[in-house]
Formats: sequence, C-alpha cells, structure tokens
Amino acid sequence: MNTAVAIIGAGPAGLLLGHALHAAGVEAVILERQTRAHVEGRIRAGVLERTTTDLVERLGLGDRLRREGMIETGFSLADGQRLIRIDVEALTGRQLTVYGQTELTKDLIEAAGVRGLEIVWEAADVALHGLDSEAPEVSFARDGRPERLRCAFVAGCDGYHGVSRRAVPAAAGREYERAYPFGWLGILADVPPCHHELIYSNHERGFALASMRSPTRSRYYVQVPLDEKLEDWPDERLWDELAVRLGPEAAAAMTRGPALEKSIAPLRSFVFEPMRFGRLCLAGDAAHIVPPTGAKGLNLAASDVAYLSEALIAWFRRGEGALVEGYSERALARVWKAARFSWYLTNLMHRFPGAGAFDRAMQVAELDYVAGSAAMRTAIAENYVGLPL
Ligand code: APR
Ligand code: PHB
Repeated sequence: MNTAVAIIGAGPAGLLLGHALHAAGVEAVILERQTRAHVEGRIRAGVLERTTTDLVERLGLGDRLRREGMIETGFSLADGQRLIRIDVEALTGRQLTVYGQTELTKDLIEAAGVRGLEIVWEAADVALHGLDSEAPEVSFARDGRPERLRCAFVAGCDGYHGVSRRAVPAAAGREYERAYPFGWLGILADVPPCHHELIYSNHERGFALASMRSPTRSRYYVQVPLDEKLEDWPDERLWDELAVRLGPEAAAAMTRGPALEKSIAPLRSFVFEPMRFGRLCLAGDAAHIVPPTGAKGLNLAASDVAYLSEALIAWFRRGEGALVEGYSERALARVWKAARFSWYLTNLMHRFPGAGAFDRAMQVAELDYVAGSAAMRTAIAENYVGLPL
C-alpha cells in the first residue's frame, strides 16, 4: 500500500489530521490498534476551545457540535465556600463549548466513512521504518497478515503509550516530566448539572470538579490518592464527598444518580522534544500530556493538527518545506504555555501530600487575590479559553 501520510492512531489528533489532509487533497491512511467500538466508547474530557471548534467547522465537521454543544461564557474557581467566577467572555471576548470528546470522536469517524478517509481498525504490531530517509514505511498486521504502508511522512498520533515517540532514537529526543502524587476519580451520571458552568474547587479535603456533557448528563471528579481503590467509592460516598468539596451552593443544587461510568486517572505533565524527527511528526498525546485541570489535552491535539496539516499541505501542494522544518518549534511554543497553565492550575487547586497549613493559606490567599483582581482573572481566562494559534 502507498499513501502520502501514514497516520498512526485514530484519536482526536489522528482523525482531525486525516480529515484536514483529505479535505486538501493530500492522501492519508489512519492505522488504529483498537476496534472502532473501543475508540468510540472511551470517556474523555469535554471542554473545547475556539481554536478547536474553528478547526472542526473549517473542515465542515461541526453540524452536531453546533446543535448539541453547550456554549459557556465563564467558569468558577472555588475555595470550598464561595464561587469565584471567571467571566471568560467579558475578559477575552471569546467563549468555550462543552461537547464530549467521545461525541466529537464519533462524528469524525462517521465522516471519515462518508468522505472516503481510510481507517484501518485493529492494525496490530505497528512499527516505523526509515524515518530518517525520504521513503519511510510502516509495517503492521491486518487479520494476522503482515502488510507495509509506504509513505512520504508518518504522523505519530498514537497517544502517550504509542510506538511513534519510541521510534525516535534516544540521543535525538528529550523528555520533561512531572508526575503528581494523586489522581482524579471521575463519575458520569444522567442527572442535570449542579451549575450551568464548570466549578473547579480547592477544598481543604482536596480538589473537586463539577462538569457536564449536556443539560441531562453530568461529569464530576474528586482528587484521590494514587493507591485508592474504586471499590472503596460506592456512589453515595462519592456524592457525599462532592457535596462537601464543591461547597454549599453547588451541593444544594446537586442531583445524585447512579454512575454510568466511574474510573481513576493519574495526573501527569510530560513534554517530548522535538516533535519532528526526519519524516516523523508527532501530534497530540504522543508528544505531550497535561494534567486535566484546565482541559487542555484535546485542545492541544487540535492546535498541533492545525500547524501540522498546514505544513504538510504546503509540502505536498506547493513543494514548500519551511513549515515542516519549523513544525516542532511552532507547536512546542504553544504546548509549553498550555503545559505551564495546566501545571499552575493543578498546583493552585489540589491538596498535595505533606502540604501544611501554610501551603493551604497560600492557595486560599491566591484565590482571594484572583477574586479581587481583574488582571489575575484575565490571565486565567485567556489561558483557559485558549491562546491564539
Ligand atoms: N498502533 C496504532 N494505534 C495506536 C497504537 C499503536 N501502536 N498505540 C496507540 N494507538 C492509538 C490508540 O488506540 C488511540 O486510539 O492511538 C490513539 C491515540 O489517541 P488518544 O490517546 O486519544 O490521543 P490524541 O489523539 O493525541 O488525543 C489527545 O485525547 O487522550 C486524550 O487527554 C487526551 O484529550 C487528549 C486527547
Ligand atoms: C470533563 O468534563 O471531563 C472535564 C472538564 C474540564 C476539565 C477536565 C475534565 O478541566
């Protein structure tokens, strides 16, 4: 098989890139290790920056997003007692859209079928070859039979645990990492949200988040130790804890219901440099992970794709190499700023093991400062809504 760009991974990064290239007449094939049902069933975050929705709209993939997405003009930080509203629209002139990554993924997969963008599901044993040559190849197995995909570029969109980043020789790359000593226990339930906007709360007992997927479906999280067991968190205990940590106003409006899904995810910051090695370009979680505080993961994947698709289209349509040459530097400039914001909000809003009364007082004082300072709220709002491309 031959193609222009072999894309590894059918998460949001790989799907968006595939659509962007396909729409510009650049041939691409996506190789995905999992089944379609598995990819469509994964529960992920759900806050989209304007940069992300603009990309989806530009590709003509925004019909359901426009119909079902909930426009958000702000969100709140809380200290366990009061809500401190960040009026994103007033401070930045822009809005956010709440739309589950799961739903966006389904839309992109369905449109791939309609438009003839090829996705190979259950592609096993994917391996990359000749990345420092002009004719790389991807080997994989389909239905137990070996195949080779010859291409001009490989796009590594296979997430943190994928093979693409690991194909870069150790001497050619550098990893930056911070693992946080806690995780998020999440619950999805078919109950109306307790508030029309997201609430990120730093309570003495730890962090909590009130989020949503639709007017009838809520998503909540509490910070838990890394060794916490799901069995120790029956629904009622989780709802009780959320009510305490989110504060009285949210608790009074909270509707409880059975969990559709419950899971614990660790928090990590990770950046890999560079994002290009020869004919391999990395995008999304394959190159960087942010903790979910700030909801930047999917949005960074989308901004990587905006830069990378522009670069590859310039290469194939106009024979220009400068944007491919500059891809890593351009993408990383935005990645590092989002990594900083996610780290900042994580530090501000969580209870760290070993932190004492002084550390807690510093967090509360900072939240109090945010409450009183339009400059601070603007800095938070412009990062949360998404820095310009
Ligand atoms: N071969 C083929 N596909 C692979 C391989 C492999 N060896 N390893 C992983 N994959 C696939 C995964 O099954 C997954 O479908 O690559 C895809 C990567 O998708 P994501 O993990 O969703 O990463 P990305 O597309 O970069 O999206 C970033 O999604 O995971 C969230 O928090 C993340 O919101 C962020 C966004
Ligand atoms: C979610 O709705 O799952 C969500 C929202 C905001 C975040 C993280 C997760 O910062």
